[in-house]
Amino acid sequence: MTVTLITGANKGLGFETARQLLELGHTVYVGARDIERGEKAAAALGAGFVQLDVTDDVSVSAALATIGAAEGRLDVLVHNAGILGNEALDGPTALRVFDTNAVGIVRVTEAALPLLRRSSNPTVVTVSSSAGSFWAVNNPDRPEYHLPLALYSAAKAAATMLTVQYAKAQPGIKFNALEPGTTATDLTAAFGIGRTPLESAKVVVRLATLGPDGPTGTFQDEDGEVPW
Ligand SMILES: NC(=O)c1ccc[n+]([C@@H]2O[C@H](COP(=O)([O-])OP(=O)(O)OC[C@H]3O[C@@H](n4cnc5c(N)ncnc54)[C@H](OP(=O)(O)O)[C@@H]3O)[C@@H](O)[C@H]2O)c1
Repeated sequence: MTVTLITGANKGLGFETARQLLELGHTVYVGARDIERGEKAAAALGAGFVQLDVTDDVSVSAALATIGAAEGRLDVLVHNAGILGNEALDGPTALRVFDTNAVGIVRVTEAALPLLRRSSNPTVVTVSSSAGSFWAVNNPDRPEYHLPLALYSAAKAAATMLTVQYAKAQPGIKFNALEPGTTATDLTAAFGIGRTPLESAKVVVRLATLGPDGPTGTFQDEDGEVPW
């Protein structure tokens, strides 16, 4: 059994990724910051549940301790929790966006490393964004060029860079970042754009199910590697 933790899995892409990985036979833990929403999602999926707020060290440690006690290891970690944070462009909003989308990756990865090291094929997937690609935001032919999402883009650039840095620092563990494709979720609801989570979660599932010889330190979408 492959033991998998997905952060922010009570809805959207995380929820659909959990559904698809359960279908493939993974033992999935739905991580959610809200107990009621998380338990409801986990029950609907037939998954495990851990309360996990990526901005809260105590919550993150407790979630990984629960999985460690129950499973003894972690095979797949999906950093999926994220916020858009486009309400304002100011210090408090910037702290919140970076805390959730970038610092949260450090918190959860550091807490998960001891359990990942006990896996025979440890894999970490970061649901980043091409809005954090310097190539895409500087390319007038790309939709990211026109996105007025300074904090989100900057935090996702950091998320991708953290993935690359972890890949270099932890050669025994695969770390890959991805752009899932524009998806109709609560995150994008205000724009009324995107395809179904079913299609986009396939990109996450592909990188979450890499074999031992799979790539590490890459940034990919459904067509392959995305320029940085
Ligand atoms: N949708 C797109 O087009 C798109 C494109 C590129 C990348 N992405 C990325 O895909 C990921 C999933 O987004 P989505 O589109 O599925 O959006 P979503 O439906 O809004 O889901 C976001 C999830 O993150 C959770 N979350 C937020 N803050 C958290 C925290 N502090 N601790 C733990 N969980 C937290 C949310 O929980 P609550 O229910 O408690 O708020 C929710 O479960 C994000 O990282 C996003 O940046 C999405």
